[in-house]
Order: sequence, then structure tokens, then C-alpha cells
Amino acid sequence: EKGGWSSFMAKEISEEPEAVAKTILGRVHDGLVDLPELAALGDDVLTGLDRVLIIACGTAYYAGLVGKYAIEQWARVPVDVELAHEFRYREPVLSPRTLVVSISQSGETMDTLMAVKYAREQGARTLSICNTQGATIPRESDAVVYTHAGPEVAVASTKAFVAQITAIYLLGLQLGQVRGALEPERARGLVAELQAVPEKLAAVLNSGERIREMAKWMADTQSVLFLGRHVGYPVALEGALKLKELAYIHAEGFAAGELKHGPIALIEPGQVVFVIVPSPRDPSSLHAKVVSNIQEIRARGARVIAIAEAGDVAVLPHADEVIRIPLASPFFEPLLAVVPLHIFGMELAAAKGLDVDQPRNLAKSVTVE
Ligand code: F6R
Repeated sequence: EKGGWSSFMAKEISEEPEAVAKTILGRVHDGLVDLPELAALGDDVLTGLDRVLIIACGTAYYAGLVGKYAIEQWARVPVDVELAHEFRYREPVLSPRTLVVSISQSGETMDTLMAVKYAREQGARTLSICNTQGATIPRESDAVVYTHAGPEVAVASTKAFVAQITAIYLLGLQLGQVRGALEPERARGLVAELQAVPEKLAAVLNSGERIREMAKWMADTQSVLFLGRHVGYPVALEGALKLKELAYIHAEGFAAGELKHGPIALIEPGQVVFVIVPSPRDPSSLHAKVVSNIQEIRARGARVIAIAEAGDVAVLPHADEVIRIPLASPFFEPLLAVVPLHIFGMELAAAKGLDVDQPRNLAKSVTVE
């Protein structure tokens, strides 16, 4: 059922726009988010909670990291994100006012499941963000918001990732709305931006051919680094994970601000570095900071591939290659910037003659520890 695609992964990447659209579908009324599923958490839970804790593994964990930036900004509530296997073995402190949000494509990941069970025993409220109807984790949770990415067959998660970010954004927006942290006008603006993402994602898919060419000349590359800041940081981590699992090469994602604290020592002539560049229209100074990071690594011989917004000319003199993404405000950039990285992971694996759907040593659903 690959339907003419060379792999399930290629098909699933092509379905990323649809995964976002379907996850939003029916959950916006009058321009505002409405997730009736959250009622199952109990009365006043959304207004009364004082902390959100997101637990997940792998790619789902990176979706959680993206969610932290958004929920804190929109709902003004503290958010922590933890790897489920680190969380469950250290008697973490929870209270009935903690909302524990698990994120899992399969809904069967053992560590995430056990973390949810622990959280419930401690009296926390549990919400599952899951892509698989009726899976174990949603059944063990107080409430569930399903992502509607459709079945994901390739071992490496792609369309589920963008659907997870979409779901966690819907949660963040609803929390912001009910807690009064988001003015309705601002909330409506953000909802409209989220609804515009699928169309922009479809445009990003057009860069596939160029990325395939890049992957070909990089087939012998031994190591690739990824840099990002703010919501671009988890995207960098995701880009690196995809290369490890699909192309079996050493890859690391870093927060760009960490460069000077160690990683810059890794830069030597020819080192390929992907940089996720924040929008120059963003009122924060992050764009300038990342451009200056690019200059620093380029001066040491790095080969820079920038993922930057259309019209961002400031990166041009400093990057060896620029992959363009459509204009979007900061929180919506990760949804767009991750797609070229998904394509790159797949194409590099394909250029090396590897099976992109079934990487060695990995299983789609990790039901053991
Ligand atoms: C990476 C990948 C894994 C999963 C992780 C969690 O491409 O697919 O890192 O994201 O095993 O799986 P779920 O979401 O099923 O809990």
C-alpha cells in the first residue's frame, strides 16, 4: 500500500500536511480551540493546574520539548519535559495539580506507559496524546487527545511528529484560553496560523528534489551536526536522531547558544552543519544571534546548510546552501523546518543503499525496556 512511493517513509512524509490538518479538524469553533476530550480530566483541572509535565521517548519527546516553549508562552504555566525512562526510576514529585501529558505515536511504549501509571498513583491527572485508537496508554489515562496522522508504518516517525506538535499546540491554546492568559484576539490569530500550516507544509515538500541532490554528495559523510535555538533546538535534535537511526552516521543536535561551551571544538574544515535559522521578523534578537553562530562555525571551515525563511537574505553570504521555508511566526517554524530534515534523513539513507522503512536494530513500537 505504498501507493507508488519508493518507501512508506516517503509516503508518510508526503502526508505531513494532511497529518496536521486532520489533527486540527473539528477542534476549532468560532476561531478558538475546543477540545471536548479535556472534560474527562475533571472539573477545574485546566484552570487549577499549577504545572504541566510532559513525558515521552525519542521523537515524541522532541515534540514535547517544542510544546514546552508554546504552552509556557501561551498559558503562562510552568512546563517540564522528561524522558519517560528517566522519570520513572527516581520517585519524581507530583501533585494533584500537576497535569501529566504523555505523548506516544504507538500508545504502547513501555517506559511511557509505566510513567503514566506512576503519575496516576501519585494523584496527578493524566492526558494522553496518542496516534493509535484504543492503545494501552490512552486507556490508562484520564483523558486522550488523538493525533490523526493515520497509521505510521515506517519505523522512523515523521507525520506523527508534526501531528504531535499540532496536538500539543491545541492543548496550549486551549489552556491559554481557559486560564485567561491569551486574549481571544491573540488566540484567534494563533489558531489561524496553525490552520495555515498544512498549506505551507505542502510548499516545503517541493524542496525534496534539491535535498535528494544534497544527500547524494553527502553519502560518504561521517558526521553531521544540527544547530537550533528556541523551538528550533528540538528540531535540531530531531534532525540528528533521524540521521542516526536511518543513515547510521554520527549526528548531534545542539542548542546554538551552547556552541561556545564546548561543541564548537568539533568544527573542523568540511564538517557539515545544518542550522535552523529563526525568522528575521521575530522581535527577539535570535535571528542575529544564530547568524553570528553561523559566521563563527564558517570561519572554522564548517559547511553550512541553513534552513531559513523565504526572503531572509542575511543568511545568504554565510551559508553554503539555503533551504527555504515559508513565512511563519516563531512557534510555527518547527513544523515547517523539520520536513527538510525528515527528507534529508530518508534521502541520505537511500543514497547509502539502506532500507529506510526498516532501520537495523529498531522496532516500531518499543514494548520492552
Ligand atoms: C524515531 C522514533 C522513535 C519513537 C519513540 C517513541 O524516529 O520513531 O524515537 O518516537 O520510540 O515511540 P512512541 O511515540 O510510539 O511512544
